[in-house]
Amino acid sequence: MNPGDSHAPGRADVSIDSLQGLRRSHACGAIAASLIGQEVVVAGWVHGRRDHGGVIFIDLRDREGLVQAVFRPEVDAAAHARGGDLRSEFVVAVRGTVERRSPETVNPKLPTGELEVVARELRILNTATPPPFPIDDDPGVDELVRLRHRLHDLRRAPLQRALRVRHALYQSARTTLSELGFLEVETPILAKATPEGARDFLVPSRLQPGDFYALPQSPQIMKQLLMIGGVERYFQIARCFRDEDLRADRQLEFTQIDLELSFADVEDVLAVLEEVTVRAWREAGGVELPRPFPRLRYAEAMARYGSDKPDVRVLLELVELTDLFRASEFRAFRGAVDKGGIVKCLPIHDADALTRGEIDRLEAFVKKELGGKGLAWVRVTADGSWQSPIAKFLSDAERAGITERTGARPGTLLFFAADEFAKANAILGRLRTDLGRQLGRVDGRAWAPLLVLEFPLFERDEQGRVAFMHMPFVAPVDEDLPLLEAQPERARGTHYDVVMNGLELGSGSLRNHRSDVQRRIFELLGYSKQEMETRFGFLLNALDAGAPPHGGFAFGLDRIAMLLSGAESLRDVIAFPKTQRGQDLLMDAPSAVEPGQLEELQLRVAPSPKPR
Ligand code: AMO
Ligand code: AMP
Repeated sequence: MNPGDSHAPGRADVSIDSLQGLRRSHACGAIAASLIGQEVVVAGWVHGRRDHGGVIFIDLRDREGLVQAVFRPEVDAAAHARGGDLRSEFVVAVRGTVERRSPETVNPKLPTGELEVVARELRILNTATPPPFPIDDDPGVDELVRLRHRLHDLRRAPLQRALRVRHALYQSARTTLSELGFLEVETPILAKATPEGARDFLVPSRLQPGDFYALPQSPQIMKQLLMIGGVERYFQIARCFRDEDLRADRQLEFTQIDLELSFADVEDVLAVLEEVTVRAWREAGGVELPRPFPRLRYAEAMARYGSDKPDVRVLLELVELTDLFRASEFRAFRGAVDKGGIVKCLPIHDADALTRGEIDRLEAFVKKELGGKGLAWVRVTADGSWQSPIAKFLSDAERAGITERTGARPGTLLFFAADEFAKANAILGRLRTDLGRQLGRVDGRAWAPLLVLEFPLFERDEQGRVAFMHMPFVAPVDEDLPLLEAQPERARGTHYDVVMNGLELGSGSLRNHRSDVQRRIFELLGYSKQEMETRFGFLLNALDAGAPPHGGFAFGLDRIAMLLSGAESLRDVIAFPKTQRGQDLLMDAPSAVEPGQLEELQLRVAPSPKPR
């Protein structure tokens, strides 16, 4: 970019041409050596301008790339004169001939860098205020600035690429699922609450004052109703709304590739999921994934990796030690076991690279960021002795047990977590991936797809009540149906996830198509008869109207786009994303509404000051 340009004032004095009569013949990025000597018309934005001894060069940018246009007074005096008016981001069309650049002006970084368009006509189609940042791969500004000026941001190549990946994903999902006999059906956005575990966005009804629609957290119930309605195979590129705390891999509003099929068992659904995933990677990423995808049961994933979405490229694995400490003298471990928790260990062999300072930093991280009570560790030194803050608390038998289970040897570092099942696994699962990547303990694969199967149906919430693990419609695994009466917590669900490189791409399950099983599950979840009727009466009635066995899945399309375009955040693959605080900075949403609108809806805003 020409440094002078960024301070250029508004250009009210520049006259504006129309495009009339001039038709774009080629994209900027499509100018190739085969066109040398030909006349072309290119159009786009002025990416930068340089003046060299009376000759004006511009880089012209459109969505396909950049090409240099050159204005020489001796070729066309009028075009050259107008070229003097150009500033960054002006919108122009240039008619000229494609020529080879002189050797000293070749730009090896550009695909069109050996060529230029020698201008014979210039039309300035619009002026532009100076851009707030350079339209480059790395604009060097804070993300909030980019989001406020999203239209400039969208002109940058990484975002253009991400939008293309998304487009390819829509096409891929549509063709794959259509070929497999799925029908694309739209379901309402103004809907009723669907329990996916997040808060609902509510929309007040004007025609039924005091009543509210809920925006769908997913089309879950509606796609089940479609199955009962005889559609048999449904899909939708579905917008979902969840009022939840945002992270890099979560947005308030996101897109699913949502699907459901009837007369299907788990294997039938998994075959579809594998096909959709393989085709997405092929058609949107140019990557051929190996098939079949490896599979893990939830219980094994948690045991070995401490996560239900492990990055299996990381070669470290956890070891279970709980039973060694049932009668231990070491209070921290024994206490966790007494309370029904677990003791687990992450062994890392040949770990001399991890210094004492680093271990202390990890312990602080576990306490501060992961809510752990501590991070006990043992380093086996060259002579086989134990360097450790906890060695003195351990019996010989405990030490022998640890050594045997973990294969500890000189150079091994052991990290321990003693806590509730979920917490201990979360801590060591996190250290496993962080340290595995840091120490290079990874297999070399770029992509590691994984199917995780048979999640538990229920878990205990913070108050110790039975809560659904995924959602209340998941059907139990057939042979665990009797457990619903005796030991519901041990019942496995048919729930499965597709995981890629440690990220959950999507989730699904078979559903309860029998109303008696669905009612029993609602009961176990603590719903009263009354609640069941008001919240899910329509679903229970529908199940009684001849519901076929059915199941399905939803991929997070934004997450797939993020992986395939190498982005760090969903915000970089969504045209107009929300910030961490749920705001659209370009349009300034959410925002206050006219008092009249509230009146019509019979709503009043409580006068608490809005936190800004
Ligand atoms: P689930 O709630 O697991 O399942 O969502 C499916 C997938 O959607 C993506 N996802 C999100 N992406 C971005 N931002 C969010 N806030 C967000 N929340 C979820 C994830 C996730 O794996 N109805 C069920 C699916 C089914 O059982 O068929 C459902 O919505 O990639
Ligand atoms: P303390 O006896 O509390 O000083 O802890 C001794 C060592 O055990 C320290 O290194 C702590 O980080 C670690 N520790 C304490 N509680 C736990 C726990 N629940 N899980 C893992 N390590 C722990």
